[in-house]
Amino acid sequence: MIRYTENDKSFFLEGADFTYAMRVDSNGYLTHTYYGAKIARADLGYYRPENVRSFNPVIPGTKKAYADIMQEYGTANLGDFREPAMISRSVSGDCTADLRFAGYYILPKKHAVKGIPTSRGGETLVIRLRDGYNGLSVYLYYTVYEKENILTRRAKISNTTGDTVFLERALSFTLDFYGSGYEVLTLAGHHAKEKYPQRSELHQGIYSVGNIRGTTSANHANFIALLTPGTDEEKGEVFASSLMYSGSHYESAEVDESGRVRLSSGINPGSFRWKLDAGEEFETPEAVLCYSNAGLGLMTRQYHDFFRRYVINPKWVYARRPIVLNSWEGMHFSFNSERIFETVDKLKDSGVDLFVLDDGWFGARDSDRAGLGDWYCNEKKLPGGLRAIADRCAENGLGFGLWIEPEMVNPDSDLYREHPDWAVGIPGRPGVPSRNQFVLDFSRQDVVDHIKHVIGDVIAGSGACYIKWDMNRPLTENFSHLLPADRQGEFQHRYMLGVYELAEYLTKRFPDILFEGCSGGGGRFDGAMLAYFPQIWTSDNTDADDRSMIQYGTTLVFPLSASSNHVSISPNIRNGRATPLGTRTNIAYLGTFGYEFDVNRFPADEFARIPADTARYRTIDGLIREGDVYRGNNRHDGNDALVCVVSKDKKRAVAVYLQALNPHKMNPRFRIPGLDPDRLYRVDELNLMLPGSVLVNLGVTLPRYRNDFGSTLLTITAVE
Ligand code: DGJ
Repeated sequence: MIRYTENDKSFFLEGADFTYAMRVDSNGYLTHTYYGAKIARADLGYYRPENVRSFNPVIPGTKKAYADIMQEYGTANLGDFREPAMISRSVSGDCTADLRFAGYYILPKKHAVKGIPTSRGGETLVIRLRDGYNGLSVYLYYTVYEKENILTRRAKISNTTGDTVFLERALSFTLDFYGSGYEVLTLAGHHAKEKYPQRSELHQGIYSVGNIRGTTSANHANFIALLTPGTDEEKGEVFASSLMYSGSHYESAEVDESGRVRLSSGINPGSFRWKLDAGEEFETPEAVLCYSNAGLGLMTRQYHDFFRRYVINPKWVYARRPIVLNSWEGMHFSFNSERIFETVDKLKDSGVDLFVLDDGWFGARDSDRAGLGDWYCNEKKLPGGLRAIADRCAENGLGFGLWIEPEMVNPDSDLYREHPDWAVGIPGRPGVPSRNQFVLDFSRQDVVDHIKHVIGDVIAGSGACYIKWDMNRPLTENFSHLLPADRQGEFQHRYMLGVYELAEYLTKRFPDILFEGCSGGGGRFDGAMLAYFPQIWTSDNTDADDRSMIQYGTTLVFPLSASSNHVSISPNIRNGRATPLGTRTNIAYLGTFGYEFDVNRFPADEFARIPADTARYRTIDGLIREGDVYRGNNRHDGNDALVCVVSKDKKRAVAVYLQALNPHKMNPRFRIPGLDPDRLYRVDELNLMLPGSVLVNLGVTLPRYRNDFGSTLLTITAVE
């Protein structure tokens, strides 16, 4: 619900349980008044969150200090010395923006933003700010949803100055909090260790994360949250932001000298500069803000509902996903038709639905040193081409899936030999390889068009019903042969627009194909990618214990169904850790389930368990896709972890418990959160019938595990 009250010039944006209020002050600035639990639409004209400090620059002709104004879109060069949302530099070099309220309108239906994925639905308030001195306009977009605790924000900068301006910074939002003592939470890591939570106190100064790698990255998720001290799974206020963007990003929380906090997020200014000619507009990506007054658990459930209802393609979001066996960990580059046929023959009647042929099927791709860019099947390895594999899969009742990495080229490839200028690089300097590959210049339309054509044709002719889109290196040498010098700063964002264009094209052209995203594991796991790819490979680390930590951070924000999880061989090929098959399976069940091993090296007794394990997944997968997540302990904080998925009607639940080291003489004990305290439940595996209040508060005990990394899955059903 969006309301404007003329007498105190206030805007009230209301979701299910929160209010976000703004006010136009007597000088015409759009100021932030309130964000938190729902409040009445009272006259807020009385409220003056001001600080009395000396030596602060004031608005000419007034006594009002710029630094006092909690501006909704912080601007630069006038006396608010905190992080600005925008810096626009005129051709004469002036980078001042004095943005004041210039009107508003409400969109009952959200417009799509050209070139960048955004969420759907909701009611949108558009506020126009204008600099009366140079004429620049900024449109702030706020979308609220009647039944959600989500607010989305983005900005559009419109060059109505009559001359060129250069945007040196264009964040999606800044948001001021009048209050101190918040903690900050971000998700950080590296390849094979994605999204580990980092939580710290804030002090005067700037806490920031982000990167200039040109991708979301495994190093820093584009997520940031302020927490009131003591926030845990069930209590505390959380103000979180998740950016719908897949390129370089920046998140910060700045505490000023008065203790106020400014939260911001958007495209990273460190690798961005945009020339905006007169009449042109620049759209920032959308940030998804979530308010919770019941800790991180409620934040998670609200984010999950939001991404499921308003971002992920409705055709796929709740659809039964295929259980795949992916060739990568088992075969890497060493396969041929015989080995693949043997694999798919063995999968018959196993409950595995689909075989995915990963990297290595095209051009001269016998290792990661060659072939990327040459998107034709290597018929020496695979006589009869991809169709022959798809056919063999079909004979065994399986679907066929295919790996692609469309944004890349190996220098040792026909594509590179023919079009060296299509690779990103700077004339006169040696190209910087990473994993022996260069990045194709997706800021160029001719390159995107070529890839659309060749990849589109490969997919069309392959018989595949699933595509895994990988991306395995960061962007460096940000430069395009086609961009003029004063537009080279646009390279990274233009690259992203090219990637989105290809994703849009392929997913529209092949609406019945399920696309899975990937970037060296979870290096590009973000809300924008989810708009195209209903599921994303969470990490190249398939060890169950590490995965429990990686999946914790990933599904703090994104739905379980988006997290693609595979059971692999033990000891794990990455860290050598041995874990029981039951534990690998239980942890992988907490998402979209699959396998990744060599059928000839997987122990026969474990292979024999696959039909039962896939059948068991099919009894819980609807719940995994649609249910609410409640967490107990997690492995970042201790020796055990508990994830419970409860159906919306509280009639069914599945709980997965993991204990890392096996403590001497102690039985595992845990509570089962999220159940209805007033219902009676049956816990099948423990042969128990207990009231919800007992399971939630006292919990259950299990027999002691014999080894480390024990785990248990409990299925819980309400007794009518
Ligand atoms: C990185 C991915 O994360 C892996 O799953 C695999 O697809 C390799 N790339 C293939 O090169």
